[in-house]
Amino acid sequence: MEEKFVIHGGKPLQGEVSVGGAKNAAVAILPATLLAADVFTIENVPHIDDVIILLNILKRLGAKVQFIDRTTVTIDTREVKNGDVRLNLAKRLRASYYFVGSLIGRFKDVGVYLPGGCDIGSRPIDLHLKGLRAIGAEVDTDFGVFHAKAEQLVGQEVYFDQVSVGATINVMLAAALAEGTTTLINAAKEPHVVDVANFLNQMGARIRGVGTDTIRIRGVKELHGCNYSIIPDQIEAGTLMIAAAATKGDVLIKNIVPTHMDALTAKMIEMGVEIEEFDDAIRVKYVKPLKAVNIKTYPYPGFPTDLQQPATVLLSTAEGASVIVENIFEARFKHIEEIRRMGAQVTVDDRIAVVQGVKRLTGAQVKASDLRAGAALIIAGLMADGTTEIVNIKYVDRGYDHIENKLISIGADIARIPVEEDEPIDIELDFQ
Ligand code: UD1
Repeated sequence: MEEKFVIHGGKPLQGEVSVGGAKNAAVAILPATLLAADVFTIENVPHIDDVIILLNILKRLGAKVQFIDRTTVTIDTREVKNGDVRLNLAKRLRASYYFVGSLIGRFKDVGVYLPGGCDIGSRPIDLHLKGLRAIGAEVDTDFGVFHAKAEQLVGQEVYFDQVSVGATINVMLAAALAEGTTTLINAAKEPHVVDVANFLNQMGARIRGVGTDTIRIRGVKELHGCNYSIIPDQIEAGTLMIAAAATKGDVLIKNIVPTHMDALTAKMIEMGVEIEEFDDAIRVKYVKPLKAVNIKTYPYPGFPTDLQQPATVLLSTAEGASVIVENIFEARFKHIEEIRRMGAQVTVDDRIAVVQGVKRLTGAQVKASDLRAGAALIIAGLMADGTTEIVNIKYVDRGYDHIENKLISIGADIARIPVEEDEPIDIELDFQ
């Protein structure tokens, strides 16, 4: 049944809240278990829709999947027989392309329906194709299927024209079982890229240089199962940090890696937010009216595109005009039309948004167009005077584990309720 969020805004968030496992690491680590025929225990798995879909795909491929508790899952991949992932489920998320890198080394032949995911721009996969071809795979994308074949992958130097999280991880997965050494140049440095490499090394891979822009993968003959705990989600952490400041609150956000948050922390300090860092926690405290700042999104360690939408909302009531430049995805301003309905003053020209701070936002009925737009609208609802209703929250559930429960635990007035069906038209009109 379709659901919506109803938020009564204006309540400062206060208290302590804990961040879950990283979505973008989990959606690569779960398919990566297919690189070996063995048993895994993965902890700190976020209980989100994208993960549930991936686990269902693993089951359909013949893996045994079992939750031990809400965030710990065991996966036994010994009975997986081939690399045929032409399943409709694969169309429902972006990360299904990781099945190509995960299965090609083991089964030599893989087919996956082309990935779906959030509509935030054109999202090509040319860099994945280029990287896989460079290490010896025959790759094509005919008839809606991402198909790759290789008797034996062979290590090579792969230069990425543009920094891509997905392509870096996908080629790293494939190269783990290649013959010889693969060098990825201009690789992505995001914390989840590092986490996936750490997981692969735990499986017996030999990957060095992750977290820098040159990654070296010395191929091994075989990988094995392991126990692994996924890192905290940088974007959930950032969403909560922004929500704390946006509601004029004071929140201790736990299970966080503070250095992963540096780009956001620096901007929030510039806005006038008080930030206190601990070993694995950050306290965010609103102390005075926020000032406008300029933000440009970049690959890590730059400001993450995934936090651009929530940050735009935070700046909507700051003093002055902020300029936001979205460098990564060309269609990532779809939340702006919705926050304008709540009173925000924002103009958009191509990839640049100018946010002129207003005194307050007011509640409205709004619609989430993608995952992070949904998170941004929740923050807008928490800030606004009056009641906000957000529909299309299925996008939010793809990447946040019942975010409303975490927000309620720190004082938010937010409820998930079923969307009433429109009244059926059951009167037949007789037109003459
Ligand atoms: C991942 C994240 C997403 C995040 C994004 C950027 C996952 C599942 N999703 O998405 O949350 O917003 O990184 O941090 O991890 N590009 C190409 N050709 C390609 C691949 C990408 O031109 O083959 C371009 C994209 O259009 C974009 C840029 O490279 O402009 C970065 O995209 P990429 O890092 O690949 O994003 P995703 O892996 O899709």
